[in-house]
Amino acid sequence: MIVMGLETSCDETAVGLVTHEREILANVVLSQIDEHRPFGGVVPEIAARAHLDHFEGLVRRAMDEAGVGFEDLDAVAATAGPGLIGGVMVGTTAAKAIALVLGVPFVAVNHLEAHALTARLTDGVDFPFLALLATGGHCQLVIADDVGAYRLLGTTLDDAVGEAFDKVAKMLGLGFPGGPEIERTAPDGDAARFAFPRPMKGRPGCDFSFSGLKTAVRHAVAALPDAALGDADVADVAASFQAAVGDILVERCANAISAFREHHPKARTLVAAGGVAANQTVRRRLGELADQREMRLVVPPSGLCTDNGVMIAWTGLERLQRGRTDELDFKARPRWPLDPRRVYANGAARPA
Ligand code: KG4
Ligand code: ZN
Repeated sequence: MIVMGLETSCDETAVGLVTHEREILANVVLSQIDEHRPFGGVVPEIAARAHLDHFEGLVRRAMDEAGVGFEDLDAVAATAGPGLIGGVMVGTTAAKAIALVLGVPFVAVNHLEAHALTARLTDGVDFPFLALLATGGHCQLVIADDVGAYRLLGTTLDDAVGEAFDKVAKMLGLGFPGGPEIERTAPDGDAARFAFPRPMKGRPGCDFSFSGLKTAVRHAVAALPDAALGDADVADVAASFQAAVGDILVERCANAISAFREHHPKARTLVAAGGVAANQTVRRRLGELADQREMRLVVPPSGLCTDNGVMIAWTGLERLQRGRTDELDFKARPRWPLDPRRVYANGAARPA
C-alpha cells in the first residue's frame, strides 16, 4: 500500500510517499524561507501563491524519487487544517483532484495528528502514548489513545513555543525561522546570565504560557547599556531563553506524565514532535525527565519533526487502513482541535 501526502499549511510545500511497511519512498520539502525572510515572518498570501507555484513540480519529484507512478497510489492525503487557510486550500484541492482522477480515496489529515503519529512511522510506537506537540502554532500535551482519539491535557494560554523562539530571535536580530538560529547561537552563551521567568511553574495542570517569558526577554534586551546588543549579549540571551524553555517544557511534561499514568498506568512512551522537538537542548532535557520517570522518550529525526509531507502521507495511511477516508467536499479548516471535547484533564471546559 502506498499513500501520497501533501503539506501546505504554513511555509513549507512538501510531498511525501510512504508504504504500510513504514518505508519512506520519497520526502521532498521546499522551504519558502527566502520568500518570507524580508518580512521577518510568514506572509499568508505569499505562502498560498508559492504553494500553488511549486506543488506540481514537487509531486513529480516525489514520484521520480520513489520510482513509482500515479497508478501505484492507493490514496492521496493532504493537511486539511489547522493552518493558514489559503495554503491548506491549495493542498487539499490538489490532493482531491489527484484522488478524483485516479479513482482512489482522499484523506483529510489534521496537521497536529500528523506530528503526533510520525513516531509510529519512525519508531513503531504503540498506542497509547503521551505526546508533546511543540510547533510554531501550537504547544500541547495530549494523550494519544488511537488514530483519531486524543485527550487534551494542556495547551498554551497565549503564544506557541515555536512562536516564542521566532519572536526572541527577531529581538536579537537573528534570522527567521528563529528556532534553529537560537539553537545555533546558544552554545556560545551563558545560560545563567539572565534569570528569565518560567511561567506556570508550580501550578497544577499541563497548560503552558510563553508571553511573559517573551516580554522578559524584551525588557532584558532594552535594559542593556545603550540597548546595544553585542555578540556575547545575543548568545547569553539565546542561552538563557533556551534554558528557560527547557525548564518550562520539562515541568509541564512532568505533570502530564502523572496525568497520563492515571489513565494508562502501564504505558511508558513520551513522544515529542513538531519543529521545536528538533532542538537538541529540548531533546536532552526531555530525555533526562523521561529517565527519571521511567518513560521512553521517542523523538523523530529532526527533518521529520519540522513540517514535511511524509507525516501527512503516514497519517493518511493510518486512517485509510481504518477505513476513515473523506469525501471530496471536505472543507479546509483553519482551526481543527485534536480533542473535539476540548476539556481539561480534570473535566473542566477549556476556554475557546
Ligand atoms: O512543526 P513546524 O515545522 O511547523 C508548524 O507546524 O508550526 O514548527 C515550526 C517551528 C518554528 O517556530 C521554528 O522556529 C521552530 O519550529 N523550530 C525550532 C527548531 N527548528 C524549528 N525551535 C527550536 N529549535 C529548533 N532547532
Ligand atoms: Zn507543523
